[in-house]
Amino acid sequence: MSRRRDTKEVAVPVTSVDTIRVELGERSYPVHVGPGVRHLLPEIVAATGASRAAVVTARPPEWTPDPGVPALVVPVADGEHAKTVAQVESLCRRFAGFRLSRADVVVAVGGGSTTDTAGLAAALYHRGVPVIHVPTSLLAQADAGIGGKTAVNLPEGKNLIGTYWQPEAVLCDVEYLETLPETELINGYGEIARCHFIGAGDLRRQPLHRQIAASVDLKAAIVSADEHDTGKRHLLNYGHTLGHAIELVTDFAVPHGCAVGIGTVFAGRLAGLLNRIDPARVREHTEVVRHYGLPTTLPSTADPDRLIDAIRHDKKSAGSTTFVLDGPAGPELVPHISEEKIRQALAQMH
Ligand SMILES: NC(=O)c1ccc[n+]([C@@H]2O[C@H](COP(=O)([O-])OP(=O)(O)OC[C@H]3O[C@@H](n4cnc5c(N)ncnc54)[C@H](O)[C@@H]3O)[C@@H](O)[C@H]2O)c1
Ligand SMILES: [Zn+2]
Repeated sequence: MSRRRDTKEVAVPVTSVDTIRVELGERSYPVHVGPGVRHLLPEIVAATGASRAAVVTARPPEWTPDPGVPALVVPVADGEHAKTVAQVESLCRRFAGFRLSRADVVVAVGGGSTTDTAGLAAALYHRGVPVIHVPTSLLAQADAGIGGKTAVNLPEGKNLIGTYWQPEAVLCDVEYLETLPETELINGYGEIARCHFIGAGDLRRQPLHRQIAASVDLKAAIVSADEHDTGKRHLLNYGHTLGHAIELVTDFAVPHGCAVGIGTVFAGRLAGLLNRIDPARVREHTEVVRHYGLPTTLPSTADPDRLIDAIRHDKKSAGSTTFVLDGPAGPELVPHISEEKIRQALAQMH
């Protein structure tokens, strides 16, 4: 792809851009990772053939890229509580008011809550309009913006209403991370930390944009092999079963990435208790999670009974208590884990 200067004459330094392709046949798409890649937006929009765009943005105007075509800019609130069916309806009504057509494009600019919600609105409006993701948090750049899962929450649980809707392209501009609060950076490291145990290897000494690119690369390969989460994609849930439970019982006081960090330590301990991995590998879980500045113990407010209840209701459990655990043959889905072992592993987490 040729790189060109945008209207603000900001050059994208080609050499520092990593481009990873998510291979899904006709629905394959590139993920560009690097400084300034948001300025590729007009080129990407032009390639879709869209003549207009709806830019759903949780970032301020100076950080909302120009799509290069006449656009409706829809500022939105973000965060877990903004991931609602009402928000999806509101976005679709704005699209309709603008007479956005199926030949146009939606651009989502924000963290994972924005790409999830705008992605779902794009999937549903007119039975699907193309979407381009511009993830702005570390968590969204390393994970949420890639792979086509979209969802909003119900009071009964996270991500209960959603669909698969692959983007046309994803622009992971690391310049966004300049304004990201430290806690959100650490939060994003939760997704990067769990990549250590599912095939990315040790990224601890890599610069941040390479850690993002490596996480994207791993996710792209997994999504290409299992788009609809019927097999290998379960690996991405490493650390997530307990992570989701922690989010739920603390009413999201523990953010997603931190919850996944704690869940990753727990996955190591559970695998150790089941004799799937040796004590050194169990310790490696704590070391890696701690290296990224993430918490490694359960919050005092997370009661084990409530956690176990929440784990049982996790949508990935499919009737029995299932975890993705490391083992002699690498990480895999392990069903039928007894409550006793879960309690033992939880007891080691205080
Ligand atoms: N679809 C998927 O595959 C997938 C995967 C992982 C997580 N998720 C979802 O992603 C969400 C978590 O993502 P998130 O942490 O990005 O959530 P988020 O959108 O709530 O963003 C987190 C915080 O960072 C702020 N922020 C974002 N970009 C910023 C920037 N450049 N500068 C300053 N502040 C910025 C936001 O305002 C917000 O306060 C969850 O809802 C989770 O379910 C989805
Ligand atoms: Zn996650």
